Amino acid sequence: MTNYDAGDVLTVHGGAPLNGELRVRGAKNLVSKAMVAAVLGETPSTLFDVPAIRDVEVVTGLLELHGVTVTRGPLDGELHFDTSDVESANVDEINVHAGSSRIPILFCGPLLHRLGHAFIPDLGGCNIGGRPIDFHIQALREFGAVVEKSEKGMDITAPNGLHGAKLQLPYPSVGATEQILLTAVRAEGVTELRNAAVEPEIIDLICVLQKMGAIIKVHTDRVIEIQGVPRLTGYTHRPIPDRIEAASWGAAALATRGDVFVRGARQADMMTFLNLFTSVGGAFEIDDTPGVGGIRFWHPGGELNAVAMETDVHPGFMTDWQQPMVVALTQARGLSIVHETVYERRLGYTAALNQMGATIQTYRECLGGTPCRFGRRNFMHSAVIAGPSKLHAADLVIPDLRAGFSHLIAALAAEGTSRVYGVKLIQRGYEDFEGKLNGLGAHVELG
Ligand code: EPZ
Repeated sequence: MTNYDAGDVLTVHGGAPLNGELRVRGAKNLVSKAMVAAVLGETPSTLFDVPAIRDVEVVTGLLELHGVTVTRGPLDGELHFDTSDVESANVDEINVHAGSSRIPILFCGPLLHRLGHAFIPDLGGCNIGGRPIDFHIQALREFGAVVEKSEKGMDITAPNGLHGAKLQLPYPSVGATEQILLTAVRAEGVTELRNAAVEPEIIDLICVLQKMGAIIKVHTDRVIEIQGVPRLTGYTHRPIPDRIEAASWGAAALATRGDVFVRGARQADMMTFLNLFTSVGGAFEIDDTPGVGGIRFWHPGGELNAVAMETDVHPGFMTDWQQPMVVALTQARGLSIVHETVYERRLGYTAALNQMGATIQTYRECLGGTPCRFGRRNFMHSAVIAGPSKLHAADLVIPDLRAGFSHLIAALAAEGTSRVYGVKLIQRGYEDFEGKLNGLGAHVELG
C-alpha cells in the first residue's frame, strides 16, 4: 500500500457506536446535472446548498473550460453561473477530466444548442459495471445529431439542428433520461420519451428546467413529454437533499448500534429505504420542521432481522443504498438475500467484508423475482449474507464511491484498528465525511 499519500489513508479505531447529528445538503446526483443545465440558459443561474465535494469541483472545471464563469455567493453552498460567453473547450483539457466523471456526456445537448457542436471524452466514473453510453448516443442521433468516433472520444454536431423525437429507452436509465431532457427542451417540436427514469433527482431536474422556461409534462407509466422552446433563461434553485448520503449515515448508525440524526433528510424521497430499515429492525423518527428537520436513525437494541431485498429503479430500493445496508445486514440474525438488478458488478466489495469476518456468498443466479438483465450473463449479482458476524479490523482498499463508504462503515463497526486506503474517492460524493465522523464520536485520523 505504498502508492497512497497520507491524505488518502484513514485510520479507523472501530467498535464504538456513531452517535450525534450531521447535515446533508443538495443531492450530488441533482446538483451536477443542474450545473450542466445552466449552460442552456441565456441569463445567469444560482444554485443553493451545493455540497463541497469532488464531483462539484469536476463539473465546475468543465463549466469553466466552456467559458462559464462560476462564482461563490455570500451563503455557504451558493454558486452562480454566468453563461453569457459559452465557448468550445480544448479537447485535451476536457480529457483531463475524463477519468474522474461521467458528467461530460450530459454537456452534449446544451453545447449543441449553444454552439452547434460538442465533444465527449472517453468516460470515467465508478467501476461498477460496463456502464455503456449506447442509449445516449442513440437518442442524440434520433434528435438529428451526427455522432462520430474520434481518437480521444466522440465528436457530435447537428448540421440540420435538433428536432423532437419519439423515443423509448430499453431500460429506465437515469443518465439517458437526463440526456434526453437536456436536449429536448430546446429541440424543435415535441419529444415523447417512454420508459423514462423518474428518480426524485430527475423530477428535481425537471423543476430546474421548468424554472428556465421549459415545457415538460410527466405522465403516468414513465412517459415524459417535452415541448421544445426557442430559448431558456437562468434559474434559481435549492436542490433536493442527498438521499444517498442520508441513507448511508442511517445504515452506519444501524451497523454500529448507534443513533444518528441526519438533518436535511426527507422522508418522501426515502420511503423505500425506511421500509427496509424498519424490516431489518432499525428505528427511525421523522422531524419535518421546515429548515431544521431531518430523520433520526438508530439501533433500538436487541438483534437485527435478516431480509430479502432487491435493488431497482425508482420507486424501488436504490442501488446506491445497497452497499451500506449490506454492512448492517452482516449484523442481522439469519440469511439475508440481495438481488442487484441495476448494475451487473456491484457486489465485488463484499470480498473485503468477508476478509473482515462477514459470511457473504455471491451468485450468478437471480435470487429474486424482479426482472433483471444479468441472470443468464454470468455476472455475480446476487448475494446471501449469513449473520450475525463479528467484524474484525483489516486493511482495506476502496474500489468505488459507495462501496468505499460501506468499507468505512465496516471498519467503524469492527473491533480493532483498520486502515482504509483511497479515501479521497469518498470525497467525490460525501462532503467533509471525516469531520462528520469526528462529530459522531468516531475515532478516526488521516494518515
Ligand atoms: C446514475 O448513474 C447515478 N450517477 C448513479 O450513482 C446511480 O447509481 C445510477 O444513476 C442509478 O440510480 C449520477 O447521477 C452521476 P443509469 P447513471 O444510466 O446515470 C445501463 C453514485 O455513486 N445503461 O441509470 O450512469 C447501465 O449500464 C453513482 O452516485 C446502458 O446499458 O446510471 C446500468 O446497468 C454510481 N446504456 C443501468 O443502465 C446506457 O447508455 C442504469 O444506469 C446507459 C445506461
